[in-house]
Amino acid sequence: MGYPKEKNFVVFMPREKIVIGNWKMYKTAREAASYIEELIPLIEGCKTKVLLAVPFTTISTASKAAKGSPVLVGAQNMNDAREGAFTGEIAALMLKEAGADFVLLGHSERRHGFGETNDFVQRKVVRALQDDLIPVLCVGETADEREEGRTEEVLREQIEMGLEGVPKEESEKVILAYEPVWAIGTGKSATAKIAQEAHAFCRKVLGDVFGKKKAATVPILYGGSVKAENVNGLALEKDIDGVLVGGASLSVETLAKIVLNCKGK
Ligand code: 13P
Repeated sequence: MGYPKEKNFVVFMPREKIVIGNWKMYKTAREAASYIEELIPLIEGCKTKVLLAVPFTTISTASKAAKGSPVLVGAQNMNDAREGAFTGEIAALMLKEAGADFVLLGHSERRHGFGETNDFVQRKVVRALQDDLIPVLCVGETADEREEGRTEEVLREQIEMGLEGVPKEESEKVILAYEPVWAIGTGKSATAKIAQEAHAFCRKVLGDVFGKKKAATVPILYGGSVKAENVNGLALEKDIDGVLVGGASLSVETLAKIVLNCKGK
Protein backbone atom coordinates (compact mmCIF):
# COMPACT_ATOMS: atom_id res chain seq x y z
CA MET A 1 0.00 0.00 0.00
CA GLY A 2 1.57 3.26 -1.02
CA TYR A 3 0.64 6.90 -0.80
CA PRO A 4 -0.79 8.99 -3.59
CA LYS A 5 1.96 11.30 -4.70
CA GLU A 6 1.80 14.51 -6.64
CA LYS A 7 5.24 15.13 -8.13
CA ASN A 8 7.51 14.28 -5.23
CA PHE A 9 5.02 15.08 -2.49
CA VAL A 10 2.80 12.78 -0.52
CA VAL A 11 -0.76 14.09 -0.64
CA PHE A 12 -3.06 13.75 2.35
CA MET A 13 -6.78 13.54 1.78
CA PRO A 14 -8.67 16.36 3.46
CA ARG A 15 -9.36 15.60 7.11
CA GLU A 16 -7.99 12.06 7.19
CA LYS A 17 -6.50 11.23 10.59
CA ILE A 18 -2.74 11.42 10.96
CA VAL A 19 -0.51 10.18 13.80
CA ILE A 20 3.10 11.34 13.91
CA GLY A 21 5.51 9.68 16.33
CA ASN A 22 8.34 12.04 17.27
CA TRP A 23 11.16 9.90 18.61
CA LYS A 24 13.28 12.93 19.56
CA MET A 25 16.86 11.81 20.40
CA TYR A 26 15.98 8.16 20.88
CA LYS A 27 16.57 4.98 18.86
CA THR A 28 19.46 3.87 16.68
CA ALA A 29 19.00 2.69 13.09
CA ARG A 30 18.97 -0.93 14.22
CA GLU A 31 16.28 -0.28 16.82
CA ALA A 32 14.23 1.62 14.23
CA ALA A 33 14.23 -1.28 11.77
CA SER A 34 12.86 -3.77 14.29
CA TYR A 35 10.32 -1.21 15.58
CA ILE A 36 8.93 -0.65 12.07
CA GLU A 37 8.84 -4.37 11.29
CA GLU A 38 6.78 -4.87 14.45
CA LEU A 39 4.56 -1.85 13.79
CA ILE A 40 3.42 -2.72 10.26
CA PRO A 41 1.31 -5.80 11.12
CA LEU A 42 -0.11 -4.10 14.23
CA ILE A 43 -1.70 -1.31 12.18
CA GLU A 44 -2.70 -3.34 9.15
CA GLY A 45 -5.95 -2.20 7.57
CA CYS A 46 -6.12 0.97 9.69
CA LYS A 47 -7.05 4.11 7.74
CA THR A 48 -5.11 6.50 9.97
CA LYS A 49 -1.87 7.73 8.38
CA VAL A 50 1.28 6.95 10.37
CA LEU A 51 4.40 9.08 10.19
CA LEU A 52 7.62 8.68 12.17
CA ALA A 53 9.94 11.63 12.81
CA VAL A 54 13.24 9.91 13.53
CA PRO A 55 16.88 10.94 14.21
CA PHE A 56 18.90 11.87 11.11
CA THR A 57 21.11 8.77 11.23
CA THR A 58 18.03 6.57 11.32
CA ILE A 59 16.15 7.98 8.31
CA SER A 60 17.75 5.81 5.66
CA THR A 61 17.28 2.49 7.49
CA ALA A 62 13.80 3.45 8.70
CA SER A 63 12.58 4.47 5.25
CA LYS A 64 13.85 1.20 3.77
CA ALA A 65 12.10 -0.77 6.52
CA ALA A 66 8.88 1.19 5.84
CA LYS A 67 8.99 0.88 2.06
CA GLY A 68 5.72 -0.40 0.59
CA SER A 69 3.98 -0.01 3.96
CA PRO A 70 1.60 2.74 5.12
CA VAL A 71 4.36 4.21 7.32
CA LEU A 72 6.14 7.39 6.24
CA VAL A 73 9.48 8.52 7.61
CA GLY A 74 10.64 12.09 8.20
CA ALA A 75 13.11 14.26 10.11
CA GLN A 76 12.84 16.45 13.20
CA ASN A 77 14.69 19.53 11.96
CA MET A 78 16.78 20.95 9.11
CA ASN A 79 18.64 24.08 8.09
CA ASP A 80 17.12 26.76 5.86
CA ALA A 81 20.01 26.90 3.39
CA ARG A 82 20.18 24.59 0.38
CA GLU A 83 23.86 23.88 1.15
CA GLY A 84 26.79 25.79 2.60
CA ALA A 85 29.46 26.12 5.27
CA PHE A 86 27.20 25.34 8.23
CA THR A 87 29.07 22.85 10.39
CA GLY A 88 26.81 20.29 11.99
CA GLU A 89 23.68 21.30 10.08
CA ILE A 90 21.66 19.27 7.59
CA ALA A 91 19.87 20.27 4.37
CA ALA A 92 16.43 19.34 3.02
CA LEU A 93 17.93 17.71 -0.07
CA MET A 94 20.04 15.42 2.13
CA LEU A 95 16.99 14.38 4.13
CA LYS A 96 14.97 13.78 0.98
CA GLU A 97 17.69 11.63 -0.55
CA ALA A 98 17.97 9.63 2.69
CA GLY A 99 14.26 8.80 2.38
CA ALA A 100 12.45 11.52 4.35
CA ASP A 101 9.05 12.69 3.13
CA PHE A 102 8.41 15.33 5.80
CA VAL A 103 10.17 17.39 8.45
CA LEU A 104 9.10 18.83 11.81
CA LEU A 105 9.91 22.55 11.95
CA GLY A 106 9.82 24.94 14.91
CA HIS A 107 9.29 22.22 17.51
CA SER A 108 9.14 23.82 20.96
CA GLU A 109 12.34 22.04 22.01
CA ARG A 110 14.08 23.81 19.10
CA ARG A 111 12.45 27.18 19.78
CA HIS A 112 13.04 27.13 23.54
CA GLY A 113 16.16 24.95 23.82
CA PHE A 114 18.07 26.15 20.75
CA GLY A 115 16.76 29.69 20.32
CA GLU A 116 14.97 29.22 16.99
CA THR A 117 13.01 32.33 16.00
CA ASN A 118 9.86 32.66 13.91
CA ASP A 119 12.03 34.11 11.11
CA PHE A 120 14.36 31.14 11.06
CA VAL A 121 11.46 28.69 11.18
CA GLN A 122 9.76 30.55 8.29
CA ARG A 123 12.84 30.25 6.08
CA LYS A 124 12.95 26.52 6.82
CA VAL A 125 9.27 26.09 5.87
CA VAL A 126 9.88 27.74 2.50
CA ARG A 127 13.02 25.69 1.91
CA ALA A 128 11.29 22.41 2.81
CA LEU A 129 8.56 23.09 0.23
CA GLN A 130 11.10 24.07 -2.42
CA ASP A 131 13.01 20.85 -1.84
CA ASP A 132 9.98 18.54 -1.74
CA LEU A 133 9.57 17.90 1.96
CA ILE A 134 6.23 18.34 3.75
CA PRO A 135 6.77 20.90 6.52
CA VAL A 136 5.07 20.15 9.83
CA LEU A 137 5.02 23.61 11.41
CA CYS A 138 4.89 23.30 15.20
CA VAL A 139 3.38 26.11 17.27
CA GLY A 140 2.29 26.50 20.89
CA GLU A 141 2.21 28.80 23.89
CA THR A 142 4.11 28.44 27.17
CA ALA A 143 2.33 28.14 30.54
CA ASP A 144 3.17 31.80 31.33
CA GLU A 145 1.80 33.00 27.99
CA ARG A 146 -1.45 31.11 28.62
CA GLU A 147 -1.74 32.51 32.15
CA GLU A 148 -1.18 36.02 30.82
CA GLY A 149 -4.02 35.51 28.31
CA ARG A 150 -1.62 35.69 25.35
CA THR A 151 -2.27 32.26 23.79
CA GLU A 152 -4.05 33.58 20.68
CA GLU A 153 -1.51 36.36 20.15
CA VAL A 154 1.39 33.86 20.29
CA LEU A 155 -0.32 31.32 18.01
CA ARG A 156 -1.24 33.98 15.47
CA GLU A 157 2.30 35.29 15.38
CA GLN A 158 3.87 31.83 15.04
CA ILE A 159 1.47 30.77 12.28
CA GLU A 160 1.45 34.02 10.29
CA MET A 161 5.21 34.48 10.48
CA GLY A 162 5.95 30.77 9.97
CA LEU A 163 3.88 30.60 6.78
CA GLU A 164 4.92 33.91 5.27
CA GLY A 165 5.93 33.43 1.65
CA VAL A 166 4.10 30.10 1.27
CA PRO A 167 1.89 30.41 -1.84
CA LYS A 168 -1.82 29.62 -1.33
CA GLU A 169 -1.58 26.70 -3.82
CA GLU A 170 0.98 25.05 -1.55
CA SER A 171 -1.37 24.99 1.45
CA GLU A 172 -2.22 21.35 0.79
CA LYS A 173 1.41 20.39 1.42
CA VAL A 174 1.51 21.93 4.88
CA ILE A 175 0.71 20.29 8.22
CA LEU A 176 0.26 22.37 11.36
CA ALA A 177 0.90 20.96 14.84
CA TYR A 178 -0.44 22.69 17.95
CA GLU A 179 1.73 21.69 20.87
CA PRO A 180 1.22 23.73 24.03
CA VAL A 181 4.65 23.86 25.69
CA TRP A 182 3.13 23.18 29.13
CA ALA A 183 1.73 19.85 27.90
CA ILE A 184 4.94 18.50 26.31
CA GLY A 185 6.58 15.75 28.35
CA THR A 186 4.64 16.74 31.48
CA GLY A 187 2.00 14.01 31.47
CA LYS A 188 -0.51 16.89 31.57
CA SER A 189 -2.30 16.84 28.22
CA ALA A 190 -4.61 19.68 27.24
CA THR A 191 -8.23 18.63 27.66
CA ALA A 192 -10.08 17.92 24.42
CA LYS A 193 -12.01 21.15 24.97
CA ILE A 194 -8.93 23.34 25.43
CA ALA A 195 -7.21 21.68 22.46
CA GLN A 196 -10.29 22.12 20.24
CA GLU A 197 -10.52 25.82 21.15
CA ALA A 198 -6.88 26.33 20.18
CA HIS A 199 -7.28 24.30 16.97
CA ALA A 200 -10.36 26.29 15.94
CA PHE A 201 -8.34 29.46 16.46
CA CYS A 202 -5.40 28.05 14.46
CA ARG A 203 -7.80 27.22 11.62
CA LYS A 204 -9.14 30.76 11.72
CA VAL A 205 -5.60 32.13 11.37
CA LEU A 206 -4.92 29.65 8.54
CA GLY A 207 -8.03 31.11 6.89
CA ASP A 208 -6.52 34.58 7.10
CA VAL A 209 -3.33 33.24 5.50
CA PHE A 210 -4.64 30.82 2.84
CA GLY A 211 -8.34 31.66 2.57
CA LYS A 212 -11.13 29.85 4.43
CA LYS A 213 -11.67 27.06 1.90
CA LYS A 214 -8.03 26.00 1.79
CA ALA A 215 -7.67 26.38 5.56
CA ALA A 216 -10.46 23.84 6.05
CA THR A 217 -8.26 21.12 4.51
CA VAL A 218 -4.95 21.78 6.32
CA PRO A 219 -4.36 19.00 8.86
CA ILE A 220 -3.95 20.38 12.40
CA LEU A 221 -2.46 17.88 14.84
CA TYR A 222 -2.44 18.11 18.64
CA GLY A 223 0.74 17.28 20.58
CA GLY A 224 1.53 17.17 24.30
CA SER A 225 1.28 14.08 26.54
CA VAL A 226 -0.86 12.11 24.07
CA LYS A 227 -1.45 8.54 25.26
CA ALA A 228 -3.50 5.55 24.14
CA GLU A 229 -6.08 6.56 26.77
CA ASN A 230 -6.66 10.19 25.77
CA VAL A 231 -6.22 10.11 21.98
CA ASN A 232 -9.78 9.21 21.09
CA GLY A 233 -11.30 12.09 23.06
CA LEU A 234 -8.98 14.46 21.22
CA ALA A 235 -9.52 12.91 17.78
CA LEU A 236 -13.30 13.25 18.07
CA GLU A 237 -13.02 17.04 18.13
CA LYS A 238 -13.98 18.87 14.97
CA ASP A 239 -10.69 20.62 14.26
CA ILE A 240 -8.28 17.94 15.55
CA ASP A 241 -7.02 15.94 12.56
CA GLY A 242 -4.63 13.75 14.48
CA VAL A 243 -1.82 13.79 17.01
CA LEU A 244 1.92 14.34 17.38
CA VAL A 245 3.22 11.90 19.97
CA GLY A 246 6.55 12.10 21.81
CA GLY A 247 7.26 9.77 24.75
CA ALA A 248 4.39 7.36 24.09
CA SER A 249 5.63 6.72 20.54
CA LEU A 250 8.83 5.05 21.81
CA SER A 251 6.91 1.86 22.57
CA VAL A 252 5.70 0.22 19.37
CA GLU A 253 2.71 -1.38 21.14
CA THR A 254 1.63 1.98 22.56
CA LEU A 255 2.00 3.79 19.26
CA ALA A 256 -0.05 1.07 17.53
CA LYS A 257 -2.80 1.51 20.17
CA ILE A 258 -2.75 5.27 19.62
CA VAL A 259 -3.05 4.76 15.85
CA LEU A 260 -5.99 2.38 16.27
CA ASN A 261 -7.71 4.74 18.76
CA CYS A 262 -7.21 7.87 16.66
CA LYS A 263 -10.64 7.87 15.04
CA GLY A 264 -13.06 10.62 14.20
CA LYS A 265 -16.85 10.53 14.36
P1 13P B 1 5.18 14.12 24.64
O1 13P B 1 4.16 13.30 23.90
O2 13P B 1 6.28 13.31 25.24
O3 13P B 1 4.51 15.06 25.61
O4 13P B 1 5.90 15.05 23.55
C1 13P B 1 5.15 15.77 22.65
C2 13P B 1 6.01 16.26 21.59
O5 13P B 1 6.89 17.09 21.79
C3 13P B 1 5.82 15.72 20.23
O6 13P B 1 6.49 16.47 19.28
